[in-house]
Parts: sequence; structure tokens; C-alpha cells
Amino acid sequence: MASITVQLPQASYEIAIASGNLDQLGQKMQPIKQGKKVLLVSNPEIFGHYGERAIASLQQAGFDVSHCILSAGEEYKTLPTLQIIYDTALEHRLERSSTMVALGGGVVGDLTGFAAATWLRGLNVVQVPTSLLAMVDAAIGGKTGVNHPIGKNLIGAFHQPSLVLIDPDVLKTLPVREFRGGMAEVIKYGVIWDAELFVQMENSHSLDGLNNLTPGLLEEILIRSCQSKADVVMKDEKESSLRAILNYGHTVGHAVESLTGYTMVTHGEAVAIGMVAASQLALELGMWDEECDRRQLALIEKAALPTRLSSGLDIEEILVTLQTDKKVKDSKVRFVLPTGLGVVTVTDRVSTDVLRRVLARMQ
Ligand code: GLY
Repeated sequence: MASITVQLPQASYEIAIASGNLDQLGQKMQPIKQGKKVLLVSNPEIFGHYGERAIASLQQAGFDVSHCILSAGEEYKTLPTLQIIYDTALEHRLERSSTMVALGGGVVGDLTGFAAATWLRGLNVVQVPTSLLAMVDAAIGGKTGVNHPIGKNLIGAFHQPSLVLIDPDVLKTLPVREFRGGMAEVIKYGVIWDAELFVQMENSHSLDGLNNLTPGLLEEILIRSCQSKADVVMKDEKESSLRAILNYGHTVGHAVESLTGYTMVTHGEAVAIGMVAASQLALELGMWDEECDRRQLALIEKAALPTRLSSGLDIEEILVTLQTDKKVKDSKVRFVLPTGLGVVTVTDRVSTDVLRRVLARMQ
């Protein structure tokens, strides 16, 4: 279907998108092959669906494969779970030339990427994302890590993968709520970078489930989202400036996730709520118009994502939580705000009063 290259100063890699790619995993890893040992990391459900095929493909290509199964869920993206990967790597005597393969969603990808960044001071990692969110965002760009009890992704490292292998067929087993969460990140790309993608989604009858998308639109969504992410990462790999725009919707979103214990509200749902808040803030500050706000809201609703704050959330608690966000600089919360379709800016000029007013409207 498509091959996108992420070109970086230290190393470049391919994002390969094609139906049936899972069975090509071993073959696709041949060009980046260093040693023979591979540690495949997954979770029970994904491994049940796709583990056998991935392992068969790797073995056919001559790899010596061991595997490690982690509990599923954001609540397991922790240091104790990381220890399980290290223990398995030790047990199977992984070497500096070995590769870790992440077969799963964002949690598996972030944990495996961080284990690969740190075990023996750095092994290769290949990302095989199985959720829409991981395909269009988490698997690309090298952000890896685990959560600290007081904040998401506070412990981590940049560690670029050697290959990102996307097989859209695996989305067939993705629960619909997770699919919708991935659509939040896709809508994000439409607002921050790719207005053409935004319009394509507007023209679609529905966005709320895989079966309601035409194959053509799914292809466009995957290619255009991965290209958007690659474009931004190539310009600013370590988030010294531009890459911060990928956090659109994530400022209020992370606070919502954190205050609801990372379980009640999915990451994508929290991002959807955060995008509504960001759009409203941009309106308040006169940075973009009501028409754009309405169009974004309509897309989020079309994907059956939430547009209001989860019930029971306290606005003052949200304001306090925002202060622990990674995006805080010199004690000022920085927001990514839209100025037009496909264009955003980063600002720390949102007053607490304006924020309080916008959040109150979203209750
Ligand atoms: N998910 C945001 C980033 O990769 O920078």
C-alpha cells in the first residue's frame, strides 16, 4: 500500500503499510538484521490473535525467537512491568545485536521501546502496532517510556525504531471504543497539519467504526496520519520546538486521564475532550473562528467521541493537575491552539480565568 521514510540524522527507517504485512515481518526485518535473537513482546489478547503468525514469519526468516507477554492496559505501563521484559531478555541472553519486537498497542510499544532503549544500553526495536492509535502515533517517532504514579510518561527515552510495520487487517479485532480513540489522533492531524485529511473525514458518512469507513478512506487515514507524524518528527526529533504541536488536545486531555485514574476515560477520548477545550480557548482568544470550532466539533461527534468533561471532574482539580504536565515551562502551562485548519501555535498566554470559563462550559 505505502512506504513512508522517516529520515533522521542518526538513522532512517521505514513505515511500511500494507494488508498482510504481519506475515512479512521476518522478511521485512532482513535488511535491518544484525543478530539472530528476537524478543517479541505482546499482551495476552493480541498474542492470541497474531502471535503465532508473527513468530512463524520471524522463524522462517531465520530468527531465533523468544516471547514475553505483559498484562494489557495503561495501568500496567509501569516500572514493575518493565522488569518483566528485562528478566526475559536476561533469561534468553539477548545481546547488543538482538532486536525487540513490540506487537500490540501503545502500551506494549512504549514499554518495549523503553526496554530496548535501556537494556544493554540499547537494542534495536521494531514496532508492529495493532491499534489505530499506535499505528498513527505511538509507534512512530521514538518516544518510549512508562508512567509514574503522579504523571503519565514521566519516565522515558527517545529511541527510534528500526522499522514500523503496519498491517491494517489487524484492526478487524480492535474493540470499537479503541478504534474511536485512534480516530481522535487522526482528527488531531487534520487540525494541526493536514487540512486535506480533515476535509476527507468531513466528506465521509461516518467515522465511528472500522466497518463504516470505505477501504479508500482507511488507506488515506493511515498514510496521511503517518506522513504527518513523520514530517513533524523529521523537523524536530527531540521536541525542542515544532514537535510540541503533536500535543494538541493533550494538555487538558492528560489532566482528564490522570484525574480519572487512566482507566475510566481512554487516551483518545481524553484527547477528544482536550481538543474541544483547545478549540474553545482559541475562540476565546480570537485566534480562530466559530465555523472552524463547529467543524472540529462535528468531526469529533462523527467519531462518537466525547466532547464534554467526564462527570464528577472538578475544575479546580484540573487546574492543579495541569501544573504537573510535562508541557509546563517556567511554571506556565503551554497550550497548542488552532489558528486555522491545518495550522496551530503554541502559547503560554492562556489565563486561568479563561481556562476556568471554558472548562465550566464543557461540564
Ligand atoms: N505523541 C506525541 C509525540 O510523539 O510527540
